[in-house]
Amino acid sequence: MSSNMSDNDFVKNFSLMIGALIALAVVIFILAQIIGTKPAVTASVDQDKAVVARIEPVGQLVLAKAVSAVANSVVPSAQAADGQGTYQQACFACHGTGAAGAPKLGDKAAWGPRIAQGTATLHNHALHGIRAMPAKGGRADLSDDAVKAAVDYMVSQGK
Ligand code: HEC
Repeated sequence: MSSNMSDNDFVKNFSLMIGALIALAVVIFILAQIIGTKPAVTASVDQDKAVVARIEPVGQLVLAKAVSAVANSVVPSAQAADGQGTYQQACFACHGTGAAGAPKLGDKAAWGPRIAQGTATLHNHALHGIRAMPAKGGRADLSDDAVKAAVDYMVSQGK
């Protein structure tokens, strides 16, 4: 009888201990989740937002300054005369690399059939766009003459 009692006590205490350990493990697990991941993620998102908010005005200011500097420094007539310069500024990104399927500068096979359409058509397509070619190469600030000069330069390199 007494040995039965002590067995029962042992089982009871043992179960309590196991239960306590499991509870402790669960608490530690939950704490680890809270401390380990959650605050870190929110902190980094908040930090990113804070950094963006801090540098945004500077970026806008720098961009605005750069745009006005370029606008002030480019004289339309000089722009028109310098087809090569305009090409390098506004057209090279695609026509220097062949990006988006653009005919590359100096690629006679690519330019031959296009040149055969006639200069007026090429000017027209460069000014108003055709398929993946954006109007004025996406540079609405360029004068028509500047775009035409850039076309003439590309044509001269493609013959
Ligand atoms: C965003 C890329 C991109 C930029 C920038 C760009 N082009 Fe193009 N261009 C193209 C692509 C793509 C084509 C081929 C379109 C097609 O025929 O499908 C093309 C074709 C042309 C053609 C041939 C049109 C024809 O009728 O075959 C001319 C001329 C031309 N571009 C001039 C220019 C000039 C001038 C500039 C700069 C002011 C310029 N492009 C800037 C992508 C560009």
